[in-house]
Amino acid sequence: MRMIIVGAPGVGKGTQAKRIAADMKIPHIATGDILRDAIRQGTPVGLKAKAFVESGGLVPDEVVVGIIEERFARGDTSGGWILDGFPRTSPQAQSLETLLTRLSQPIQAVVLLECPDSAILERITGRRSCPKCGAPYHVRYQKPRKEGVCDQDGTALVQREDDTEAKVARRLQKYHAETAAVVPFYEKKGLVRRVDASKSPDEVYRAVSAVLSRP
Ligand code: AP5
Repeated sequence: MRMIIVGAPGVGKGTQAKRIAADMKIPHIATGDILRDAIRQGTPVGLKAKAFVESGGLVPDEVVVGIIEERFARGDTSGGWILDGFPRTSPQAQSLETLLTRLSQPIQAVVLLECPDSAILERITGRRSCPKCGAPYHVRYQKPRKEGVCDQDGTALVQREDDTEAKVARRLQKYHAETAAVVPFYEKKGLVRRVDASKSPDEVYRAVSAVLSRP
């Protein structure tokens, strides 16, 4: 499967994408994860992206497109992939089209997770994640077995820099102003499959699996 998962910040893209990637044995390509990793390591890309990510803004298109081109050049994407957090602007969607045409890897599905902004704020401010393996948790909806500690590797869970109320408001504003515009682009191609993401993670996963198994 070659697919994109789209939706507002905190709607549950990462939670669903990790499960889909594990089930289908395809790489999960998340620009947010790649950028946070680059920032932690202090690479040139990380230095360029830091201020944008930490303030809840969008990293310039050319930086993110460069990341995606490099990621696809690794050679493990011929059996499928799931893109999470990319494309986020119309120019990014255009660049992706050019890249995928060159690679002969056309998109098969765009899953759009939909949920009211009011629920999203609670999801994001309660989010915790493992800095080592990236596993997502929530203080109320997805608790680890032992409070504050990752189930997979025992690492202390952390809260993201950009998960404060003020920064989430900025990220939601960016989503509605810029990212939502990529949806009609894919709708015209008949690729968009909408999923109600306001239910529990398991229910959302079942709904995502159902829309993906549709011919
Ligand atoms: P990114 O990491 O992509 O952030 P985002 O889109 O804001 O999405 P999140 O990771 O916050 O949320 P999610 O939808 O994955 O939700 P999750 O599954 O974790 O990007 C971060 C930043 O990087 C951007 O702001 C930007 O600066 C930069 N960036 C990245 N890509 C870029 C690009 N292409 N162009 C420019 N800049 C870019 O779930 C959230 C919480 O809710 C978790 O705690 C989870 O446990 C819980 N949860 C999940 N599902 C449910 C459910 N169904 N019910 C209840 N709780 C749930």
